Amino acid sequence: MERKAEQLKELKEKLAVLKKERNAIILAHYYQRDEIQEVADFRGDSFLLAQKAASTDAETIVFCGVHFMGESAKILAPNKTVLIPDERAGCPMADMVNVDGLKALKAKHPNAKVVAYINTSADVKAETDICCTSANAVKVIESVDAEEIIWVPDKNLGHYVSQFTDKKIIIWEGYCNTHDMLTVKDVEEMRRLHPNAQFVVHPECRPEVVAMGDFVGSTTAIIKYCRESDCQEFIVGTEDGTGYQLRKDSPHKQFHFATKYLVCPNMKVNNLKKVVKCLETMQPQVYVPPHIADKARASLERMLQVK
Ligand code: 13P
Ligand code: SF4
Repeated sequence: MERKAEQLKELKEKLAVLKKERNAIILAHYYQRDEIQEVADFRGDSFLLAQKAASTDAETIVFCGVHFMGESAKILAPNKTVLIPDERAGCPMADMVNVDGLKALKAKHPNAKVVAYINTSADVKAETDICCTSANAVKVIESVDAEEIIWVPDKNLGHYVSQFTDKKIIIWEGYCNTHDMLTVKDVEEMRRLHPNAQFVVHPECRPEVVAMGDFVGSTTAIIKYCRESDCQEFIVGTEDGTGYQLRKDSPHKQFHFATKYLVCPNMKVNNLKKVVKCLETMQPQVYVPPHIADKARASLERMLQVK
């Protein structure tokens, strides 16, 4: 245990030197391991991290999240070097939609515009009209000049947002393996164990689970709600890395994750050692072919402009 603490200390010291040498900023999603969130210059959800990548002055971005997030950063900041700690950190939900499938659906619904969750690959983004995240999905849908919307790839978030718009939402059948795992039974059991707790839930969970929420929102919205609420105890229906920021903001409140399965194995592929190594070697770098990046950028930038 002591050895581990010493290793982390050494890695943090190395990182501080490398960051200066490379003029680098470390961006970390709230689902990353604590050891990464601790050293991040900026922590956030998908939306805040995309915004930060687009606006930073640093020459190098180390993006600690999953692959589509690093890609989005590179698309938004094409002149910067974007490093990811491990190329194998993918998102199974993003892999559930591909260009051919999306083109076929577009052909079936020629009047529809495509709203893509940011959890998509760059080549899929290039086939869409606008991106969104869980933090702005309803606003984005309302901003689109069409009454029919093709929504990719998350069926659970698609179901959730369709309750807040009169537009016809044509929903792709993808889902997040992690959030979709949470069941009504899990939440009922947690409520029995913690009768005074409020249940806060991410809309990537199943509709029947989301319907049980005392509060429903993106990762950032959940963090803000728990920080500002008078309630002292919460059952949390999102990925367990969120606990880092929840406990940092409110050390005296209690947070119970709704099941032990709310862990995204892809997000946990990264660790501090890999963060240091990627800055040392300046590898792996994210590359997006310019003809794809230009089209995908238009969709991402449209999202960033939605107020
Ligand atoms: P947000 O970051 O938009 O809350 O999305 C959660 C998620 O699953 C990211 O992969
Ligand atoms: Fe993808 Fe779900 Fe993991 Fe987010 S939590 S990266 S949506 S698998």
